[in-house]
Amino acid sequence: MPHKILKNMKTKKILGIDVGGSGIKGAVVNTKTGEMQSDRYRIETPVGAKPDDVAGIIETICQKFSWEGPIGVGFPAVVQHGVAKTAANIDKSFIGLNVEKLITARTNCPVKVVNDADAAGFAEMKFGAGVDKSGVVVLITVGTGIGTVIFSDGKLLPNTELGHIIMPGDREAEPYACDATRKKLELSWEQWALRFNEYLHYIEDLFWPDLFIIGGGVSKHENKIFSHFDVRTKIVPAQLLNNAGIIGAAIAAKQAFKDID
Ligand code: BGC
Repeated sequence: MPHKILKNMKTKKILGIDVGGSGIKGAVVNTKTGEMQSDRYRIETPVGAKPDDVAGIIETICQKFSWEGPIGVGFPAVVQHGVAKTAANIDKSFIGLNVEKLITARTNCPVKVVNDADAAGFAEMKFGAGVDKSGVVVLITVGTGIGTVIFSDGKLLPNTELGHIIMPGDREAEPYACDATRKKLELSWEQWALRFNEYLHYIEDLFWPDLFIIGGGVSKHENKIFSHFDVRTKIVPAQLLNNAGIIGAAIAAKQAFKDID
């Protein structure tokens, strides 16, 4: 079936969608300015996050905006050429599934799917804390999972998955230091920050970044956590907060479909 008439293709407007562990969020993004041109629409992620349910919610978000045009999706898994390769916090049946095709079939719009942290990284580098930052920038998003992004002189190394790295003491970083664990174990901000600080030390000793950018839900709590970090690397909170995933997904779609108009 041919795609709908792509009336938004030339206007730089793209529907950005961020699939997260607790919510699926979307907004219309002006990819030239990085601004969201609509309210953010959020629907709870369905329990178990199965492919048809997730695709159904994306279709609902699309309908909410009467959307006919390109869609960018940030997805919480390794994504290669539209296919999900891992499923840490979503249903395992996503593994091997072409998520791009699944969502295209539901929405009849051209769809680009990328890893959610990579999407957040695009947005922060273009419009947020990473603007004009050269050298090695490591962005870490902390939420239900831990997502990681590495940029070297502005160029992304995709799907890095350093949230699943095994730290000394046989501790996997994500279950040890993600925000879901902070909530589940009712850790104080200080207790959580000290755990995360251990993770930051491990990452900086392996990758020697010039800059850490910390994103995701915890980035709103800069004043409660940053004083507990003692890494040698410069460290700043993300600037686009929870909108980075939406904005970055739209940027990824813009890059993918740049030849269409
Ligand atoms: C996934 C990553 C994702 C991160 C944040 C991890 O569990 O493996 O692909 O970027 O969570 O959602």
